[in-house]
Amino acid sequence: MKNLTIIDHPLVQRDVSILRDKNTPNHQFRNVLSRIAGMMAFEVTHDFAVDDYSLQTPLEKTKGYKLKDDIVIVPILRAGLGMVEGFMNVLPEARVGHVGLYRDEETLEPVDYYSKFPKTLSKSLVLLIDPMLATGGSAKAALTFLKKKGAKNIRLVCLVASPAGVKIVEKNHPDVHIFCAVVDRGLNDKGYILPGLGDAGDRVFGTE
Ligand code: PRP
Ligand code: URA
Repeated sequence: MKNLTIIDHPLVQRDVSILRDKNTPNHQFRNVLSRIAGMMAFEVTHDFAVDDYSLQTPLEKTKGYKLKDDIVIVPILRAGLGMVEGFMNVLPEARVGHVGLYRDEETLEPVDYYSKFPKTLSKSLVLLIDPMLATGGSAKAALTFLKKKGAKNIRLVCLVASPAGVKIVEKNHPDVHIFCAVVDRGLNDKGYILPGLGDAGDRVFGTE
């Protein structure tokens, strides 16, 4: 798993535990998902290039830094929306694209129903975000979709991954680095991650 970074910071692991707990109510699930996304954003962006520029403090001139690349955050609808605010808090200059996919409950195949991306996509560093990487079907399809639209430099950020999901992405998109908080044991026969945290979209939006 050479393209995988596991962000095992204690605060991230604490928050994953809160999200896993079935007794965590929807409002707390949303807050904690947003908080954990912000913490993950630090690790995901740790090697971003910067340009320097000259600025004036109240006392003297000094060097300042700004991000070199345009950043586009792309949540996979719906559950990815729960991570956008956390990322935008630390990357306020980012643009946001959207890709809508749901898994057909019978076939587990992703079905796309919406997309909208900024015009800068092909020149930007793209962060594809979704809390769950289960069979990997949705991430694989979203990455193919983004590349068709011109994206060249993409990182995938998920919270909970399965070994099968990581493998599928590594096989089909070897150029994409994956960041996650944890790789769980496996999948059940309905494609849910075990132990996982259940249906992330339902828990974010209270539709369970
Ligand atoms: C969830 C999740 C991922 C996908 C992962 O979305 O947010 O997008 O499943 O599963 P996979 O790796 O097996 O494709 P879901 O299809 O439940 O849609 P939702 O976010 O609208 O609930
Ligand atoms: N999608 C989810 O939301 N949770 C899972 O465990 C698998 C796919």
